[in-house]
Amino acid sequence: MLTPKVIAAFSALTGHDPAGVWAAPGRINLIGEHTDYNDGFVLPFALPQAAYVAAAPRTDGRWRFRSVDLDETVELGQDELVPGSPGWHSYLAGVVWALRQAGHTVAGADVVLASDVPLGAGLSSSAAIECAVLAAFADLNGLGIEPLDRAKLARTAENAYVGAPTGLLDQAASTLCIADHALFLDCRDFASRQVPLAVTGAGLEILVVDTRTRHSHVDGEYAARRASCEEASRILGVPALRDVTDLDAALAHLPELIGRRVRHVVTENARVLESVAALDAGDYARLGELMTASHASMRDDYEITETSVDLAVATACDAGALGARMTGGGFGGCVLALVRAEQVDAVAASVTAAFAEASLGVPVTFLGRPSAGARRLS
Ligand code: GLA
Repeated sequence: MLTPKVIAAFSALTGHDPAGVWAAPGRINLIGEHTDYNDGFVLPFALPQAAYVAAAPRTDGRWRFRSVDLDETVELGQDELVPGSPGWHSYLAGVVWALRQAGHTVAGADVVLASDVPLGAGLSSSAAIECAVLAAFADLNGLGIEPLDRAKLARTAENAYVGAPTGLLDQAASTLCIADHALFLDCRDFASRQVPLAVTGAGLEILVVDTRTRHSHVDGEYAARRASCEEASRILGVPALRDVTDLDAALAHLPELIGRRVRHVVTENARVLESVAALDAGDYARLGELMTASHASMRDDYEITETSVDLAVATACDAGALGARMTGGGFGGCVLALVRAEQVDAVAASVTAAFAEASLGVPVTFLGRPSAGARRLS
């Protein structure tokens, strides 16, 4: 809970109290990876870790952004809202830019940010910032924007201002998730349903393993996967890979590598639907199997895993997890494992020991409890 921290930092910066404090969480995608930009299905839940912003309007039409974590302050005028500008503040300035592009009037403001979402771990630390800032600006300017539209505007900031060609998964999760539920989202028409994810009631926990491995080529590989999917859709003559109904027939028309990319997306969409059915039926054993199958598909067909996440998944499963998979864009980051409550410590210890044996450094483990989405705190 970083509310006191951002309020104190805001007062130190401006000499007065903020008009409010807003928070938006990071997310874990339970299943449905690299399906969002293929008009497919995703099933994320919100983490307790969140980005917090304290904010108040200014009268001079300028925006001052302060990061408590980085101990840096940046001030921008309207002419300095330039897409592609580098730096941490692009996640905040991008939101102002996206709102203005959409025709909203956005007054100047002082905004102070702090976050406890791990950076670069595939837990959507950037979407958390965008969605918290979006919530703050929507309220400060009386914009009355619906939650789904807030998510879309936050994604516009990410795509068009920051310059990352992502789907809607992260911003939708940060904005729309509610506690104790996963968000089943159809990324074609954006219909959604809150699916109860009462793991603790079933004697289970979602153990998160941050492998602390990150690869610098993530952005390029992400764009390359997306391009492969678009090429496959062109070859197959479908609007998006969501529309592939006969996988074998599709594979017969595709080069081998693109075929494997398509197989991941098509089978992953099916796994999301089956996971929702498993959750509705309280069948966590089946959910675990689907998670592990998803990981294998990401490893073998989509080729977005690497040594540390593969080792974490294999070790967690060997140590008794019902299932495990990497979450997020890929090439490192976090693994989630569905584990019986009494086995959490043993599974975490096994993964840590396996990492030590493989000279992979010390992973960070914590429990992923499904938490609330973006909200105003004061
Ligand atoms: C990143 C992107 C999301 C999604 C995932 C993969 O988190 O931001 O839009 O594509 O990767 O599922």
